[in-house]
Amino acid sequence: MSGRWWGTRFVTAVVVLAAGLTAVVTSSPEPAVALDNGLARTPPMGFNNWNTTHCRADFNEAMVKGIADIFVSRGLKDAGYQYVNLDDCWALPQRNSQGNLVPDPARFPNGIKSLADYVHSKGLKFGIYTSAGTKTCNTAGFPGGLGHEQDDANLFASWGVDYLKYDNCNNQGVDAQKRYTAMRDALRNTGRPIVYSICEWGRTGPPRVWEWGKPVGNLWRTTGDISDNWTSMIGKAQANRVLAQYAGPGHWNDPDMLEVGNGGMTPTEYRTHFSLWAIMSAPLLIGSDLRKVNEDTFTILKNTDVIAIDQDKLGRQATVISSSGGLVVYGKVLANGDRAVALSNETTSTATIGTTAAALGLGGSSSYTLKDLWSKAIRTTTGSISASVPAHGTVLYRVSRAGTTTRHEAEAATFTTGTTVDKDHSGFSGLGFANTPNAVGSYVQWTVERAEAGRATLVFDYANGTSTDRPMTIAANGTPSATAKSFPGTGAWSLWRTAHLTVDLKAGTNVIRATATNSGGAPNLDYLEVATP
Ligand code: GCU
Ligand code: CA
Repeated sequence: MSGRWWGTRFVTAVVVLAAGLTAVVTSSPEPAVALDNGLARTPPMGFNNWNTTHCRADFNEAMVKGIADIFVSRGLKDAGYQYVNLDDCWALPQRNSQGNLVPDPARFPNGIKSLADYVHSKGLKFGIYTSAGTKTCNTAGFPGGLGHEQDDANLFASWGVDYLKYDNCNNQGVDAQKRYTAMRDALRNTGRPIVYSICEWGRTGPPRVWEWGKPVGNLWRTTGDISDNWTSMIGKAQANRVLAQYAGPGHWNDPDMLEVGNGGMTPTEYRTHFSLWAIMSAPLLIGSDLRKVNEDTFTILKNTDVIAIDQDKLGRQATVISSSGGLVVYGKVLANGDRAVALSNETTSTATIGTTAAALGLGGSSSYTLKDLWSKAIRTTTGSISASVPAHGTVLYRVSRAGTTTRHEAEAATFTTGTTVDKDHSGFSGLGFANTPNAVGSYVQWTVERAEAGRATLVFDYANGTSTDRPMTIAANGTPSATAKSFPGTGAWSLWRTAHLTVDLKAGTNVIRATATNSGGAPNLDYLEVATP
């Protein structure tokens, strides 16, 4: 409902822009349910220089262009990384005579617009940084956005900025909601779609930023700054993992940017870092200098199975299934009904960590498939999910109900009066097939028990020895298929073929009825199979 509403608004904004008008978007009269910019429907993925350069001089145009180049050449763009973002220290300490921010000419000799153009030319998006205060965080005292929201937002939009990280330093004690809402409105007024990252560190309140951030920003920091060590990283995960209820498409918890590749953690710890960020639906903003990192870093950052957990369209952050003595189980519901589960060992010795499919909300099947998203090993289980996990390690599985197919013979079904169970054409399964009267309305009806609601594929095995289609409507629990399903000639009464149809079934008893729509009646029906993904 709300999604549709602001989806429409977004289109309106683009149309107005195309007409070349200046007052492009008026602010919403009704209270927004979520920030109405239509962006970040999955957690943002990209790069930010801060964790690798801080304010050092090697944060410059060559670096940013180099990262954009590597995004394309090393397949990171194809893996989903999109935003190439600048952090603090890109500007001069003084605004110009018009009051505008000025790029540091030593770092960015061609300005920011040309850099944004370069990033855009690679099919990527470009982000920038300032602070919701009088100055940014660096002691050099770069100017902040407080009181300059519209001027700065307009400048960013004119440069082609697609993403703003808005920090919290030097805020003069002004209420956080007020400061961050002012920049939200300024960004909206530009008419340019700009992902809005609230960097308030989860500091003020109540109400805390995760309680008020949804209509204000696309993501909000839930913690202070991360550092490139285990204690810092796992502390951010611990703080962030209890906030699952606040995350969703367009509005994410942000436990800060990635340290993967910066050298302060072991490969095992970096895999834990990446696994936990993914299962927590966190933004995946690479924080290492990709021009210098080793191949192991690329292997972690380009693990598309793990990225798919982060980018899952349902947008549900993992919840903590269990936590005891530093052994933590995270579970995340995925759009296709699978679950992601992280068995995470925060202790300093190897430990066995276990849970069950039922604890993940995935009961009702006699067999499950576990895919280890790091080793890629696949195994099956009847429900127990357990692994030996090294110190500071995380085992990340994708758990699926194993595909099940149940066969329901036509001769065991109910059918129209006058139907006979015949055996005179070979190739049938079971004890025979149903031969119904050749008339409109002839039917075969099966009763199918399901442990859980969900999509299922109906597979009808049939023979039609004529050259004329014998279409049927297929009704699941009384709801007929929109159009009749075709059952064309199979070439002979002894040649059996299948016709397929996907339907939604409910938990418990389902009634599936196939009914002839033409005077030729139904084909001979052998069985119905119900297959789950
Ligand atoms: C033939 C065939 C039957 C079939 C019938 C029909 O009689 O032997 O199995 O049901 O045609 O047209 O439906
Ligand atoms: Ca017949």
